[in-house]
Amino acid sequence: MQSRSMATTNKPKMPKKLFVKTYGCQMNVYDSQRMGDVLSSMDYAMTDQPDDADLVILNTCHIREKAAEKVYSEIGRLRPMAESRKQDGANMMIAVAGCVAQAEGEEMLNRAPAIDLVFGPQSYHRLPELISRVEAGEKNVIETEFPVEDKFDDLAQKSKNRPLPRGTSAFVTVQEGCDKFCSFCVVPFTRGAEFSRPVAQIITEVEQLAALGVREITLLGQNVNAYEDNGTGLAGLLEQLGRIDGIERLRFTTSHPRDMDDQLIAAWADNPKLMPYLHLPVQAGSDRILKAMNRQHTADEYVSLIKKIRHHNRDLALSGDFIVGFPGETEADFEQTLQLVRDVTYAQAYSFKYSMRPGTKAAEMDGQVPEAEKSERLQRLQELLNEQQLQFNESFVGRQFDLLLERPGRFEGQLIGRSPYLQAVHVDGNGHEIGEIVKVAVNNAGKNSLSASIIETA
Ligand code: 5AD
Ligand code: SF4
Repeated sequence: MQSRSMATTNKPKMPKKLFVKTYGCQMNVYDSQRMGDVLSSMDYAMTDQPDDADLVILNTCHIREKAAEKVYSEIGRLRPMAESRKQDGANMMIAVAGCVAQAEGEEMLNRAPAIDLVFGPQSYHRLPELISRVEAGEKNVIETEFPVEDKFDDLAQKSKNRPLPRGTSAFVTVQEGCDKFCSFCVVPFTRGAEFSRPVAQIITEVEQLAALGVREITLLGQNVNAYEDNGTGLAGLLEQLGRIDGIERLRFTTSHPRDMDDQLIAAWADNPKLMPYLHLPVQAGSDRILKAMNRQHTADEYVSLIKKIRHHNRDLALSGDFIVGFPGETEADFEQTLQLVRDVTYAQAYSFKYSMRPGTKAAEMDGQVPEAEKSERLQRLQELLNEQQLQFNESFVGRQFDLLLERPGRFEGQLIGRSPYLQAVHVDGNGHEIGEIVKVAVNNAGKNSLSASIIETA
């Protein structure tokens, strides 16, 4: 009898359920994981369905249009779930985070009363306090300041006991914000000024990830190659991280051509853990458009920089970002973008139609390009980029490299990993495990992936 009553009184508390939907870039993926870390120490466990969640966080992206509209329609879908939970005597708190929250927070609270909480990308370490305010009945809780305290220090304190698992490959933000003010871009407004995390703090975080089984780290920053802490630049940071036991592969993204210094160019040769892949956006190939974009370099300067990087590192996969239909872009300007792509040749790239962002300089410019023209240019650019991507992948048939096995594939026994050049690679993984690094030989290549056979366990 006694044991039964003990069992009733000591019934373990059920963890609350947290559902996070992430939009946009890898930095948002990282931020969502850190939110999960902080909340796991408040007894929240992740769920992959919103229906029975106690807290739903929409971690939003503002880089291109329709972002806010997507958030409103998601809230429309969540509202009936929140109401049905209320009828069951439970609650669903709805929070909007990220760059849309930062840019349009007030407006969102007015337009969608179902939102309980709004917080920007620099405030999520304050989640415990913000949640308590909502629980105490406060309405329209909003936190979109750029606080002076160190978000990352605070996160490390709040989440040190229970970080969520990260798999074999993890992101780590090392630099945040942007002072470049490209005329089309909202990032300097939503993420704030450039800031680099201290080296020691990053090392501690990477050591924790290594202890969780992570073998590959991708360092993130809006201008990651502008990283600087007391004289240590990105190359120095990569070197120190390469010495951490268990970490076998390092990557970084996204870089700006202006910040590509000689030490970093030498890093691929000097640091065996740095993977041979560089994402270096140029956006356009016409000097007139690059100037209007405030990119602070010409097309020739970019092409010469690529030549120099390739001269020092012959085996490097290059990726980029492009915008078509920037205000004032003529057919002749666009032709110069195509020519630059032909001259440089990319392993892979991202391309977008220009999207007018309120508050940016470009939004005020004359000569906005009609939508149909933007679509037609995007299609031509993507055809060329796709061709280059296929050729790059086809050049790998018969080659061998080390593969980090990351996740199961669709078929029985199949495993998928990433090549050093970031291609997705499918293998028959029988007898092998996720997290292993194996040597493979490539059999087939498509535009989006390679297939290979394991030839030895590395
Ligand atoms: N319109 C279209 N693309 C944009 N990007 C940033 N702002 C805009 C915009 N207003 C693209 C750039 C950048 C990538 C992250 O998103 O190519 O490098
Ligand atoms: Fe935006 Fe330009 Fe800064 Fe990149 S460098 S985040 S495109 S302003």
